[in-house]
Formats: sequence, C-alpha cells, structure tokens
Amino acid sequence: MVILGIGTDIVKNQRIQHILRRHPARFLQKVLHPTEIKQFESKKDDGQISRQCTEFVASRWALKEAMVKATQNRSLIFSGMYLYKPHLESAESATPNDKIQVKIDHPKNQEILDSLGVRSIHSSISHEDDYSIAFVVLEK
Ligand SMILES: CC(C)(COP(=O)(O)OP(=O)(O)OC[C@H]1O[C@@H](n2cnc3c(N)ncnc32)[C@H](O)[C@@H]1OP(=O)(O)O)[C@@H](O)C(=O)NCCC(=O)NCCS
Repeated sequence: MVILGIGTDIVKNQRIQHILRRHPARFLQKVLHPTEIKQFESKKDDGQISRQCTEFVASRWALKEAMVKATQNRSLIFSGMYLYKPHLESAESATPNDKIQVKIDHPKNQEILDSLGVRSIHSSISHEDDYSIAFVVLEK
C-alpha cells in the first residue's frame, strides 16, 4: 500500500447552521453534489433545516476540506464529489459494515486525482453535538 496523502478537518456545526440560515441554496449548490442535496432535503423536519441537516452538511464540508488537504489542491470542486454509503443507497445485500466511498463526479476532480496517481480513497466522518470531523487517506 502506498499512501499518497492524508487529510483531516474539523468543523463547528454552528458555523454551518448560520450559513444554512442565511443563504442555503447558494451554499448547498457550491458544497454538495446533487445526490447529497437530495439527501439533505430528506433530512428536513417539516420543511425546516434540522440538526441532522446541519450535521450532514458539516460532515460533508469537513470531508471535502480533508480532500483538499490530502491532495494539496484547492481547485477541487466540492459539488463534484460525494460520500456514498452502500448500505443506505443500494443492494439488499449491502450491510452497514460495507465501506463508505468517496465518489468523484467531475472531470476536473478526476484529473487532479489521476495526476497524483490516486486509485483508492479511504475516508471516515463523524459528528457530535458541536463538531463534525472527517479523515481521508489517498492510496496509489
Ligand atoms: C486549504 C484549506 C483546506 C485549509 O483549511 P483551513 O480551514 O485554513 O485549515 P484548518 O483550520 O482546517 O486547519 C488549520 C491547520 O491545517 C493545516 N493545513 C492548512 N492547509 C493544509 C494543507 N493543504 N495540507 C495539510 N495541512 C494543511 C495548517 O497547517 C493549520 O495548522 P497550523 O495552524 O498549525 O498551521 C482551506 O483553506 C481551503 O483552501 N479550502 C478549499 C477552498 C474551498 O473552500 N473551496 C470551495 C470549493 S466549492
């Protein structure tokens, strides 16, 4: 195993909550992939931004900032990548232990990763009341 880069980020959930209250649409379109925007919408509570919504966005923001640190490249397009959880989104055979994946869905992002020789992206996210964190390992 050859590790090409690691990245981590911690985000204060309240910071994200403030942004979501002020200009949600613009922020979400910049930060989330369309798949994630749907997931975000499904977490609303009676049409209102819930705590789950905030944690969802904060942890995805942390993940994408961790990707910037791991690749050392600020040009990554946040809306062109997303966290995929097989057990939530597909096959009946999938289980919660199936590995979560960072999916790349933008040619610019793919170009950045290809230029580094990345073949595999390992990631982990977590959130608690006040903070969300993410960790990324890029493997050749
Ligand atoms: C590079 C970037 C990820 C750094 O984030 P940050 O919020 O300034 O950094 P954090 O507060 O998370 O962490 C600070 C620590 O991270 C370290 N750090 C900053 N950039 C780093 C990098 N590229 N690689 C590794 N570590 C880095 C710093 O050394 C700092 O530690 P120090 O205070 O001891 O020096 C961020 O500023 C950035 O450019 N993000 C991408 C741009 C963006 O927002 N794009 C949106 C696209 S839609």
